[in-house]
Amino acid sequence: MLRDSCSVILGLHHRQVFLERVRSKAVSLESVDKLLEFFDSVYPNIVIHTTGLTSVERCERNSSLAYHINTKLAANVARACGIRGIILIHISTDHLFTGEFPFVEESQPIQPLNIYGQSKGSAETKVLENCPNALIIRTNFYGWGPPYRCSFSDRIIKTLRKGQPLMLFEDVFFTPTIIEVLARSVFDLCRVGASGIYHVVGDERLSKLDFGLKVARHFELDIDLINISKLTDQPHLVRRPLEMSLSNQKTCSVLGRSLGNVDAHLVKLRQQEHGQAFREIQNL
Ligand SMILES: NC(=O)c1ccc[n+]([C@@H]2O[C@H](COP(=O)([O-])OP(=O)(O)OC[C@H]3O[C@@H](n4cnc5c(N)ncnc54)[C@H](OP(=O)(O)O)[C@@H]3O)[C@@H](O)[C@H]2O)c1
Repeated sequence: MLRDSCSVILGLHHRQVFLERVRSKAVSLESVDKLLEFFDSVYPNIVIHTTGLTSVERCERNSSLAYHINTKLAANVARACGIRGIILIHISTDHLFTGEFPFVEESQPIQPLNIYGQSKGSAETKVLENCPNALIIRTNFYGWGPPYRCSFSDRIIKTLRKGQPLMLFEDVFFTPTIIEVLARSVFDLCRVGASGIYHVVGDERLSKLDFGLKVARHFELDIDLINISKLTDQPHLVRRPLEMSLSNQKTCSVLGRSLGNVDAHLVKLRQQEHGQAFREIQNL
């Protein structure tokens, strides 16, 4: 666990979160001055910015809120980190492209299809303007989430365990990673002094349907409850890319290792269910 090797402070917004051996402090990201005050009270070496308005539908309904949370607050954090010379890790997304090509590389110009992607894309620009050495991580992750925030794997496991049917898209492709591999890879990129944009995703590209089928098999759940669906048959949803897979070659070559395929990650996910971190997250 990263908190065995680092002292971790959670900067909180509305929700209270208590974790063992982790300090929590409320922080406003609304002004650079407030952020500087916060940094001067805790002296961080590294800041990981994970804030986001992550609902694609909500971003589309309220674009000014999306740009405020996803772009403006990221710019404020980057400005404060830039002024104090703090290493910034900014969490971005795989939602930045039209979906024409698989395994997109970091050098490809972004072309987001919706407000969520556009606001996260402009955050990347603002972050690098304000903090040129920032490390920007584009990713798509899953793992055991708290009761109030289901990850994609949580949704699959919970639904199938209840014996309920589940619809999954066969025409949406991605390269998901388990949170444990994401966290370790980001930590190691930071240790080697990486800066700029890195894709930290799994090695394997698959559809959301195939991911669900793999989860069901690893957790010995009823695959017959999974129904095939298509994003292209859902015209009421906000436009999204059908292809979100990213290439992790740059990250793998800097780290000198692969980031693992879905089966390897799902073996870890199953093992984690019996561990202390799982119990801690379930009690949040
Ligand atoms: N989940 C994925 O697979 C995925 C994929 C690609 C990228 N990402 C990126 O990864 C990051 C984390 O995603 P997530 O799925 O963990 O998101 P999440 O569960 O929706 O969490 C969003 C966080 O942002 C905070 N927040 C919201 N409004 C804020 C504000 N005005 N000021 C300060 N904090 C605010 C929330 O705090 P409160 O709850 O206290 O309001 C919450 O902690 C996001 O930047 C997202 O774009 C996620």
